[in-house]
Amino acid sequence: MTAKKIRHYLQFNDFSLDEYEYVLERARILKRKFKNYETYHPLHDRTLAMIFEKNSTRTRLSFEAGIFQLGGHAVFMSTRDTQLGRGEPIEDAAQVISRMVDIIMIRTFGQDIIRRFAENSRVPVINGLTNEYHPCQVLADIFTYYEHRGPIRGKTVAWIGDANNMLYTWIEAAQILGFRLNISTPPGYKLDDALVAKESAPFYQEFDDPNEACADADLVTTDVWTSMGFEAENEARKAAFANWCVDAKMMARAKANALFMHCLPAHRGEEVSAEVIDGPQSVVWDEAENRLHVQKALMEFLMLGKLNH
Ligand code: CP
Ligand code: NVA
Repeated sequence: MTAKKIRHYLQFNDFSLDEYEYVLERARILKRKFKNYETYHPLHDRTLAMIFEKNSTRTRLSFEAGIFQLGGHAVFMSTRDTQLGRGEPIEDAAQVISRMVDIIMIRTFGQDIIRRFAENSRVPVINGLTNEYHPCQVLADIFTYYEHRGPIRGKTVAWIGDANNMLYTWIEAAQILGFRLNISTPPGYKLDDALVAKESAPFYQEFDDPNEACADADLVTTDVWTSMGFEAENEARKAAFANWCVDAKMMARAKANALFMHCLPAHRGEEVSAEVIDGPQSVVWDEAENRLHVQKALMEFLMLGKLNH
């Protein structure tokens, strides 16, 4: 008998289109069960370890509530109070932790760290954000788009701001799910080609002018100018990004029914105006809530595979 291959979710392109269609449909079903107060415990007695090397509100809460709602429970571990903060090798930590729990979520710095962890893990590992990728968030965003407007295939998404973990994940999503991405980042903060697969090229276009990037978009999205781990660059970034604030003028270039998304936390008056994030086109609270539903579907899929119901 051959051992079952462990699946990890380290970046968006770890799943195929067919698997995304399945997971998004499961997210819809699990959201309905949750809204109906229906008990559903397929992960009864299973344990999720959540390892945080960076701060979090949404990721921690959505994973912890999510595993609990599926019948399991979570253990929160941070660098501050585990041996990881005192230099225990990531490979050793992966060996030990994965012998005691059934699934692991990590938020860390370099993608190489989560890769090395996964290579040494006996159980599925989920990326809860690295410097390079934030796949759980983009999964929630795609689900949110679907709920409001239907399939994202063939649509145009405008990314305004930093070339960060969210953008690199949107680029992978554009290729797998088949939508166009218009990207505008300031001079000096362009895409790192090493993080973009050649096959993604037909799915995105770069614009110097953020207003041009928004033209006829179905969805406009942005994120903080300074991501976690880059705080020393904050002042320089504020100056460089000043014209990359998503405001009403930019939104007016997009389609009349365009949505606005932001993974949160947000800085009103920096990457987005209060008028836009608190306005009628914004779906940011749905995006945040949907982290719960898509990650429940993700954990169910990684641990149980495709179900027949
Ligand atoms: N969007 C997101 O990942 O939020 P947290 O940093 O609060 O987890
Ligand atoms: N790009 C941001 C996302 C926070 C959820 C960061 O990495 O800090």
